[in-house]
Amino acid sequence: MMLAEDTNNQFDKVASVPVGYAGSQAVYSTWATKYEEDMTNMGYNGPRQIVALMHAALGGVTDPSSVRVLDVPAGTGMVGSELQKLGYTNADGLDANPDMLKVAENKQVYQRLIEAKLGTGQLPVDLEPNMYDAVLLVGAFSQNGTHLPCKCLEDLVQITKPGGLIIVGTGSETLQSDVGAALVATLQDLQERALLSIIDKTTRSGYFRDWEGTFFVCRVTS
Ligand SMILES: C[S@@+](CC[C@H](N)C(=O)[O-])C[C@H]1O[C@@H](n2cnc3c(N)ncnc32)[C@H](O)[C@@H]1O
Repeated sequence: MMLAEDTNNQFDKVASVPVGYAGSQAVYSTWATKYEEDMTNMGYNGPRQIVALMHAALGGVTDPSSVRVLDVPAGTGMVGSELQKLGYTNADGLDANPDMLKVAENKQVYQRLIEAKLGTGQLPVDLEPNMYDAVLLVGAFSQNGTHLPCKCLEDLVQITKPGGLIIVGTGSETLQSDVGAALVATLQDLQERALLSIIDKTTRSGYFRDWEGTFFVCRVTS
């Protein structure tokens, strides 16, 4: 499929070239209303894949609406839509970008939307310890380091219930970068400190474009 030149440019600006956090937020603000269409056309399947993995890891849950999920960063709500399809209607979404969240809000797939920047050293006020059964992160870590800092994973452990899940999905290519190395080191550190266990590391083809995705399924220590 032929893609408009600016479609690829928008993605490269937020994910690859060194625009900095403020630069990437400016791109998301102008891209928000077209983000989902462009990402779908570029073959982005990460949201569907992470929700399927959560569903499998929860193992035959009888009432999906009782599972409290946090989608972070929620962006325009691609993960929220996938959650809703499987009956996971008790989901919140968190993102730093108000324009992306406005698109998410219109889809009505979240109970609550939280506009907050993660990784500032302080947990956003709307989040409390042991709130969520599952926290999902996809499209959260970019090779240019303009997205979530890995240190926020420790905050996410805090807000997940003991025994709950944290699932992180990223392009396998990203794992080869400095950001990817920091992500793996952070998860290993959390595991060594007995805050979580990595119960599965699995790959999926067709994560984005022709890239494979790698997903870490982690269980927060009881
Ligand atoms: C590629 S989008 C991914 C959105 C969604 N998970 C998806 O898969 O479509 C990245 C999102 O990360 C958000 N973001 C970047 N840094 C953030 C931070 N420190 N805290 C919260 N959100 C952040 C951006 O605003 C943007 O909406």
